[in-house]
Amino acid sequence: MAMSTFDHRTVLVTGASGGIGGAVVRMLVESGADVIASASSPDRLEAIVAETGARPLPFDLTSESAVRDALQDVPVWGVVNCAGFGGEISAPTDADLDVFDQAIAVNTRGALLVTKYASRSMIAAGRGGAIVNVSSQAALVGLTGHISYAASKAALDSITRVSALELGPYGIRVNSVNPTVVMTPMSAFYWGREEIQKPFLDQMPLGRYATEEEVAGPIVFLLSDAAAMISGVCLPIDGGYTSR
Ligand SMILES: NC(=O)c1ccc[n+]([C@@H]2O[C@H](COP(=O)([O-])OP(=O)(O)OC[C@H]3O[C@@H](n4cnc5c(N)ncnc54)[C@H](OP(=O)(O)O)[C@@H]3O)[C@@H](O)[C@H]2O)c1
Repeated sequence: MAMSTFDHRTVLVTGASGGIGGAVVRMLVESGADVIASASSPDRLEAIVAETGARPLPFDLTSESAVRDALQDVPVWGVVNCAGFGGEISAPTDADLDVFDQAIAVNTRGALLVTKYASRSMIAAGRGGAIVNVSSQAALVGLTGHISYAASKAALDSITRVSALELGPYGIRVNSVNPTVVMTPMSAFYWGREEIQKPFLDQMPLGRYATEEEVAGPIVFLLSDAAAMISGVCLPIDGGYTSR
């Protein structure tokens, strides 16, 4: 079955002005989807919108009223919850709880809010659909320094599993992807350091970080009809790191 089954399907991509989100928008547009590109800053959305023709829909996903107002009259067939907040690198002993709250507000609560309002229109349309939550390898194994980020992404994976149960009867599939490091501004400040990068990659079977396209590909696959029988999974895109 071909993956390019997105004709006439509208897919909302949050975090569309970011590295991975931008790659997802490009791949979905190439696959024939009608793409709505979202982020909090309208200015930072301009480049991907101009490049791909995706429709911009800026909103701050930490605000329930903003998410509701943005989505209530915008029917979608699919969603990629890709917006994210990297937080800080900190031991539990030094965790900044404001950072913890922000990680939960964006990575967990924000994705739940988008799921809440988008799934209403998906159910109303009665055409099924698919949601992909962009989680992290940090949700699957303990990673030093990632206390708040990991907690927010593990909770996101729980949202994936429960949403898959609840939305499955409407033909809506919900999955997570759990990528390893991609060198975007979110990650470069930490994972780009030689003393962090080398020991990490020495532990990874494929021995290199992922590209934005290598993360976007499995996201588009999980959205597509090629994954028609896959729901509730958390799919590592990690060069084998979490298989150890
Ligand atoms: N990079 C990695 O190594 C890596 C690895 C595993 C998983 N991930 C996950 O992959 C996703 C994308 O990562 P990335 O590196 O591509 O991120 P990025 O380049 O830093 O982009 C982050 C995106 O999230 C949006 N965003 C942040 N806060 C928001 C808010 N309150 N409301 C609406 N939008 C908001 C940003 O838009 P504005 O700037 O306009 O707010 C931007 O579009 C994230 O969920 C991240 O946790 C990344």
